[in-house]
Amino acid sequence: MEPGFWHDKWHQQQIGFHQQDINPFLVKYWQKLALPAAAKVFVPLCGKSLDMCFLAEQGHQVIGCELNELAVQQFFSDNQLEMTKTAVGEHQHYQTEQISLYQGDIFTLPNELTQDVTAFYDRAALIAWPESMRAQYAKQLAGLLPSGSLGLLVTLDYPQEALNGPPFAVSPTWIEQHLTEDFEIQLLDCQDVLADNPRFIKKEVPWLNEAAYLLKRK
Ligand SMILES: C[S@@+](CC[C@H](N)C(=O)[O-])C[C@H]1O[C@@H](n2cnc3c(N)ncnc32)[C@H](O)[C@@H]1O
Repeated sequence: MEPGFWHDKWHQQQIGFHQQDINPFLVKYWQKLALPAAAKVFVPLCGKSLDMCFLAEQGHQVIGCELNELAVQQFFSDNQLEMTKTAVGEHQHYQTEQISLYQGDIFTLPNELTQDVTAFYDRAALIAWPESMRAQYAKQLAGLLPSGSLGLLVTLDYPQEALNGPPFAVSPTWIEQHLTEDFEIQLLDCQDVLADNPRFIKKEVPWLNEAAYLLKRK
């Protein structure tokens, strides 16, 4: 989506994607990555996700990238975290002891900022892109990740014609076709989550799968 779309969503606080709880797949599968506590974890398109607090609670250093300034400010104020703010090139860098958020476009995030991450977490980032931009995002993400880094990817899949995204449907076939060049891929879980998503029920979407993949950057 174009930046203006997301700025409007944050301005109007139409943030249905934001979860009040930690993502259940993150809680269930993060330990599969078997990372040292001090590992640095990159969270692309992070919003104000509480999942970053979960990652920090595991002892990790968290590096997020988020386009919208209000989202970043709300993350720190909602969680009562004191931060400092500095400019890094065209990004604003908000920092606490364990959490560093770069506010700006992921496509212009300098990759030296992520060269010492050993892990990543993508929830509602890949699926935020329409198909026309998704592969470009996946390439940018791969370019920001050092070889060997491990990640958890959480996607949604449903019959795309039943609803306008975002979130956009990302099928296992799309993952296989577009991510194999840069990542080793293992499907960890796939569950029908239609009953928990009133917007999809209202639009009579017949099924909605949430999947978790373990990825390793080649
Ligand atoms: C669907 S939300 C998901 C947020 C978060 N991952 C979560 O689970 O709540 C997608 C987020 O990506 C941000 N975003 C969109 N385009 C971006 C870009 N080019 N660079 C960085 N962030 C972007 C939006 O502002 C929005 O907060």
